[in-house]
Amino acid sequence: MDPLAFYPIVARDLDLQNPMPASRLDDLARACGVRDGMRVLDVGSGKGSLLRRWAARFDIVATGLELNPRFAADARERAEREGVAQRITVIEGPAADFVPAGHGYDVVACIGAPFAIGGFDDALAWMQAALRTGGSLVIGDRYLAEPFAPGSTGIEPEVAALRDLGSLHETIERAGLGVTAFFGSSTQELDRYASAWWTAAAAWAAEHPDHPERAALLADIAAKRGRYLDHERRHVGWGVWVTRSGAALPSG
Ligand SMILES: C[S@@+](CC[C@H](N)C(=O)[O-])C[C@H]1O[C@@H](n2cnc3c(N)ncnc32)[C@H](O)[C@@H]1O
Repeated sequence: MDPLAFYPIVARDLDLQNPMPASRLDDLARACGVRDGMRVLDVGSGKGSLLRRWAARFDIVATGLELNPRFAADARERAEREGVAQRITVIEGPAADFVPAGHGYDVVACIGAPFAIGGFDDALAWMQAALRTGGSLVIGDRYLAEPFAPGSTGIEPEVAALRDLGSLHETIERAGLGVTAFFGSSTQELDRYASAWWTAAAAWAAEHPDHPERAALLADIAAKRGRYLDHERRHVGWGVWVTRSGAALPSG
């Protein structure tokens, strides 16, 4: 199934499309020192969860970059309903096509979407170019929580290529950023997020018995569920790093 159609189906019950509770967005705002007047850029902004939550508390100038028209429309509708639409602009299209005003943002976030701009390392560079000196760069992604035994099979190439926390920390520091906070997701949060997809897929399949792509979607979900329960739940972690340019902390 076309990913642009697949994700709105499996994420239909989710507002925040990542394995963390909505309250984590308040932790992130605190860690970034978000306040009135700040300019915030969110890459792969989904349904606008981060921007809407921050805009409800602060008079920010928020921009979201979102590829999927369904999510972009959803973000705008939710922002309208919540009375924060005047603070949020969602730009539809590939994030990499957006040319940010050089070093113009106080916070640049990318939660669960570094792949959208070439992966973790490229995302750091792209986001830094948009960030003002002393601003906060927030990046959320998967990491290798526990190494696989040599010869393990059935692992997706993207999972096999994941790096551990130490390696990602080195990458962040090499980019000239200092980590000021890290929020790792618990196994319960990972379970809740994974299960939301399975539940939504089952409900959608029940509602669409004759859909031509029903069997393919169910097979895809079954394969994802199998990999999750077999090894990803144990070996793959998920977390959000809050970093600041020019704020490298003493190492060692
Ligand atoms: C895992 S979701 C995270 C959404 C949001 N950050 C959140 O935490 O709720 C990844 C998002 O990135 C978007 N995306 C994927 N490729 C993209 C691209 N090339 N440019 C912009 N957004 C993209 C997806 O449509 C999806 O909304």
